Amino acid sequence: MKKTQETPRKKDNTKQAVLHMAFEPINGMIIKNRFVRSATWEGMAKDDGTCTKRLIDLMGKLAKGGVGYLLSQFLSPAFNKRQDQYGGSIENRVNILIEILSNIRARVGNNYPVLLKMNSRDFLEGGLELDDSLKAGVILKNAGIDAIELSGGTIASGKEGPVRTGIVSGKNEAYFKDAAFAFKEKIDLPIMLVGGIRSFSLAQQLVNDNITDYISMSRPFIREPDLIKRRKAGNHNQAACLSDSKCFIPAMNGKGIYCVVEKKKSRKK
Ligand SMILES: Cc1cc2nc3c(=O)[nH]c(=O)nc-3n(C[C@H](O)[C@H](O)[C@H](O)COP(=O)(O)O)c2cc1C
Ligand code: SF4
Repeated sequence: MKKTQETPRKKDNTKQAVLHMAFEPINGMIIKNRFVRSATWEGMAKDDGTCTKRLIDLMGKLAKGGVGYLLSQFLSPAFNKRQDQYGGSIENRVNILIEILSNIRARVGNNYPVLLKMNSRDFLEGGLELDDSLKAGVILKNAGIDAIELSGGTIASGKEGPVRTGIVSGKNEAYFKDAAFAFKEKIDLPIMLVGGIRSFSLAQQLVNDNITDYISMSRPFIREPDLIKRRKAGNHNQAACLSDSKCFIPAMNGKGIYCVVEKKKSRKK
């Protein structure tokens, strides 16, 4: 008899993440302290570096859900279905961040900068939208955050994820710039814009036009660790990064992060 082929069951990562978020109790002593320890030098010193590992452990657990990181999931109504003081309204969804911030602040004091990377929008049905992220930004500012690095999207957001491919200068660079503009208009707080910024002139324009205070880049530095030096020396050519995100491949295989394109080039030489 011909063996019938079973259709492989499609893993529903979003559903899994929702389950985590909805039912796992918030154990302040574990979840919150892990974030606090990981973010403070005190934790670093005490644990001799192992706190970094703990953060990775925590994220590893969450990555099972396959979508974004824990604190982003708290902010997102697509994942956060909790009915306690950490779910529901944006005021509740931002609660855990405020508690973590206040614990970090208690350790590092008022003169130490505490920064947060957060989503402006999830680009997901039922996910975090700009009006709520702006409200969260106001609450965070009032709670004493020093700056926000503004990103967006999740792994489940398809082409509208946080690490987009095919960036073309003058076309789709700085893909969260509209959100940055909205944040700068509403909240008196330094903003660091991340996501697809490749050309020097655009970076300069974004700062000059008060759309962002700082420029944040990731893949361009993986390809060109000396990018700042090059630009300081007067070479303002666009970042060489192709935005193909191939640097994720070694990272996902536990081989560290490096530019795959650059490595291939150097092998050919
Ligand atoms: C290999 C790799 C690893 C990343 N790891 C993280 C991470 O752990 N946490 C995070 O918030 N963003 C992470 N990002 C996203 C970047 O910080 C950044 O938001 C994104 O790549 C968009 O900026 P870019 O266009 O300048 O690369 C990672 C990006 C890459 C390419
Ligand atoms: S592999 Fe290299 S060129 Fe491709 S996105 Fe990563 S850093 Fe850029």
